[in-house]
Amino acid sequence: MRVAVLGATGLVGRTMLRLLEDCAWVDGEPVALASARGAGTVITWRGRGIVCREVNQDAFAGIGIALFSAGGGPSRRWAPVAAGAGAVVIDNSSAWRQEPAVPLVVPEINGGLVAGLRAGIIANPNCSTIQVALAVAPLERACGLAEVHVATYQAVSGGGQRAVDELGRQEAGQPCGDVFPRPIARNVIPAIGGVLPDGSYEEEAKVVRELRRILGRGDDLKVTCTAVRVPVLNGHAAAVRVVCRAPLDVAAARAAMVGWPGLEVATGSHDYATPREVDGRTIVHVGRLRQDPGNECGLLCWVVADNLLKGAAWNAVQIAGLLAGSVT
Ligand SMILES: NC(=O)c1ccc[n+]([C@@H]2O[C@H](COP(=O)([O-])OP(=O)(O)OC[C@H]3O[C@@H](n4cnc5c(N)ncnc54)[C@H](OP(=O)(O)O)[C@@H]3O)[C@@H](O)[C@H]2O)c1
Repeated sequence: MRVAVLGATGLVGRTMLRLLEDCAWVDGEPVALASARGAGTVITWRGRGIVCREVNQDAFAGIGIALFSAGGGPSRRWAPVAAGAGAVVIDNSSAWRQEPAVPLVVPEINGGLVAGLRAGIIANPNCSTIQVALAVAPLERACGLAEVHVATYQAVSGGGQRAVDELGRQEAGQPCGDVFPRPIARNVIPAIGGVLPDGSYEEEAKVVRELRRILGRGDDLKVTCTAVRVPVLNGHAAAVRVVCRAPLDVAAARAAMVGWPGLEVATGSHDYATPREVDGRTIVHVGRLRQDPGNECGLLCWVVADNLLKGAAWNAVQIAGLLAGSVT
């Protein structure tokens, strides 16, 4: 299968290219694409240099799978071009996630949606949503969810290379740039994305609507989210509280989670992972699993994952592997 990566010079694009090095189903070198800014950048792949090209109308000829991580504008512009040329686009931006005809896929939850797809667009969910969805999906299957309440602690790498560079500059004592709305070094910021009329920010709305879609649920699933940027380099965390439709104790909740593909579950209620510990890993880690003291249907947990891997590049490459008929 021939592969193209749009956004190849970015944090997610480079991570996808690195993961593709280990995929036996990739036919030849991936085509690396970016804007005019990144054209000419040389990216090492399987020990050889790939020269990044500027995306254009003919860039997707002969491509079977096009992995996109260039932001919403470029996705809206180029995904129909790539799909029209016969590729399946797997898009990391939010551009297509609410289109009814576009599957929103976490392979361990609803990977069956991509079966038989030969051209078109598949959306990769929002990074925080993927890890929360994977943590609560076993509880949804075990007894059904009534409510999911999330507070995220999101690393700066979630904002792309500029955000990582900005944290580095602020940590070195340089003046704040315009990447974050307030200083991020030695601080936390409860505002990610644009403002919405209901008092929420865009990142929070993504978690609400995408979680419902991935779980195949509607407004009857009550979801709330407060999304917070923290001065962590990589790895998102989330404090999650669920209310199940029926009483579920910790032992039963843990039993439902253990063995679920892609999940790693801590053994004790005081055990947890931190972003540093999941950096470079493809799993979602669930720790601090405990009963809500005020509600026999309520459970609390702490969910951590590498946002560049399971939150973006790994999830996309897993989907690509499903399409290619591989089990990478
Ligand atoms: N970072 C995460 O943890 C994460 C997680 C989930 C989803 N995502 C999504 O993935 C996408 C990329 O994120 P990132 O963190 O990799 O950002 P990034 O580091 O800023 O990289 C952006 C990439 O997009 C390319 N690009 C920008 N404008 C373009 C245009 N007009 N035409 C073609 N290419 C263009 C850039 O190429 P140039 O070199 O030409 O500028 C670069 O390769 C975003 O939609 C983001 O929301 C990111």
